[in-house]
Amino acid sequence: MTSTIDQIASQERVVVEHMRESDLDQVLLIEQASYPRPWTRNGFKTELERSCAINLVLCEMDQVVGYLIFWAIREEIYILNLALRPDRRRQGLGRNLLEYMFDWGRKRGMRRAFLEVRVMNQAARKLYEKTGFVMTGRRKNYYAEEKEDALLMARNL
Ligand SMILES: CC(C)(COP(=O)(O)OP(=O)(O)OC[C@H]1O[C@@H](n2cnc3c(N)ncnc32)[C@H](O)[C@@H]1OP(=O)(O)O)[C@@H](O)C(=O)NCCC(=O)NCCS
Repeated sequence: MTSTIDQIASQERVVVEHMRESDLDQVLLIEQASYPRPWTRNGFKTELERSCAINLVLCEMDQVVGYLIFWAIREEIYILNLALRPDRRRQGLGRNLLEYMFDWGRKRGMRRAFLEVRVMNQAARKLYEKTGFVMTGRRKNYYAEEKEDALLMARNL
């Protein structure tokens, strides 16, 4: 992992890098520890190849501790996936990654960020509220297998 983009300000040893295929073993472990229906390796590979997808990993001493995947289309950012390794949660890293993304978008003239979150995912909802997202809608039974609604959230950059 050589293409360090930036150091996350308050966490001196933690850097943001572009995700590579060689990160996927570690990314998949975090993914599987994070979601009831984790993405597959092919799901991540598809995003690595998609021209509008920005795939970031947060690394500490060459270990992946989190990742953020979003699409950047015209003036809009759409968040697809954000997860932190379970032992590195609640340390401000998720918020830092989102702040990094907001800066990234602002520098490129982007105006707005969007996401969907499971209604039962309290940790993520709190994080998004704390980083300025507001609820803009609700999709009934969007996660069909659990019959769980999705909340739509948005934030101006
Ligand atoms: C949701 C997730 C990304 C949060 O990342 P994180 O690095 O732990 O979040 P941060 O430490 O930056 O938290 C920032 C704020 O969010 C809120 N928050 C984060 N986790 C929380 C939790 N478990 N319970 C309540 N509030 C929480 C708090 O307000 C927190 O600020 P505080 O610690 O000063 O109180 C992480 O829990 C995770 O990886 N979950 C599994 C994957 C997931 O659900 N992703 C989101 C999909 S939409």
